[in-house]
Amino acid sequence: MSKKRIGILTSGGDCPGLNAVIRGAVKTSEQLGYECIGFLKGYEGLYDPVRYINLTQKNTAGILNQGGTILGSTNKGRFAATVGVADRVELDPELLDGVKTTINQLGIEGLVCVGGDGSLAVAQQFHEFGIPVVGVPKTIDNDLSATAFTFGFDSAIDCATNALDRLHTTAASHERIMVLEVMGRHAGWIALHAGIAGGGDVILIPEIPWTYEDVCHKILDRESKGKRFSLVVVAEGAELPQGGRVGEAQSGAQERLGGIGQIVAEEIERRLHRETRTSVLGHLQRGGAPTTFDRVLATQYGAHAVRLVLEGRFGEMVCYHPPEIESVPIIEAVNQLRQVEPNGSAVQAARALGVSFGDHTSDESVFAVQSTATEAATAKDVEVDAEFVLDLAEAAAEEAMS
Ligand code: F6P
Repeated sequence: MSKKRIGILTSGGDCPGLNAVIRGAVKTSEQLGYECIGFLKGYEGLYDPVRYINLTQKNTAGILNQGGTILGSTNKGRFAATVGVADRVELDPELLDGVKTTINQLGIEGLVCVGGDGSLAVAQQFHEFGIPVVGVPKTIDNDLSATAFTFGFDSAIDCATNALDRLHTTAASHERIMVLEVMGRHAGWIALHAGIAGGGDVILIPEIPWTYEDVCHKILDRESKGKRFSLVVVAEGAELPQGGRVGEAQSGAQERLGGIGQIVAEEIERRLHRETRTSVLGHLQRGGAPTTFDRVLATQYGAHAVRLVLEGRFGEMVCYHPPEIESVPIIEAVNQLRQVEPNGSAVQAARALGVSFGDHTSDESVFAVQSTATEAATAKDVEVDAEFVLDLAEAAAEEAMS
């Protein structure tokens, strides 16, 4: 009797760690007595024409630390179901029928779909059509609901942080303002995390409305303290103060974002008459080897995706709820984008350090102390008084110095 089979494909924009998932799934499958088939160019390889390769421990050896995907990928193409219930685009029933036939004819027990929001939305429609799928969340944007981290994100922020480290030294030498534009689509995770890790002075993200006045205020404030250079990190999807995002409309697809960095840099230079330069990191964030964290996460995702197939948990997606790898219905992951919480702990910490998000709140530097004071005051049912807040701030500062 022929062996049981598992299929795998990588779909959408690539990111570091895809090969680690493939390797993890292949090794796990073989250990458990399954053959593994890898479909080429994402969902496209599933039908008309069907294109796949047999994956073995032998031909996947050495790919753990390789960027990209040995299976190739397609962003959009014929299989585009977009995100969210409201935006849902129904896949062509002929395509769905064709895919089902391929899966049946090849004797595939379960298909592992590795992808971001759009690709998992396709997997969800496969599931509803009775095609046995499980999902693995991938994207450098880290914007999928139901998982704390997607693999690829850590590698992307590593790249952006490195870029900021490099910009830092040249900015300081030339006393310039450096604007770094990073990816992330409608979520500011890359800008926020890289901005914190790379010592950004201003971080502009889609989730927090900002103004040029506040950005310039922060730069001048630094100058008044003798810091004659500044690093501004801007997410490609951040909205301009006058409204609207910067990018190009694509027919039948989501807009291609990009270009805000240059606009922000020009406006800063116009207002402050300081030399301001822009760097756009672009696809460098998606290329290259995965970080250690992404290798571990991707490997676990690959292994646990096979487990889901074995357990017949179709329509589910592996997810990371630290410290455990768990699973959730795919629909939970694709219904809603996970954006940065404007008052979340990472934003709060950055503000506490004096990082500006280009909004007024950035001026309130003693936020943590204020909230402690507020809590204490609420507990005692008294009003917070400003001096109490200041005393606490001073006490905290002294403690930090000692
Ligand atoms: O979703 C990942 C991502 O890299 C986004 O951050 C970016 O906006 C987009 O893909 C770029 O897509 P493409 O490679 O198709 O230009």
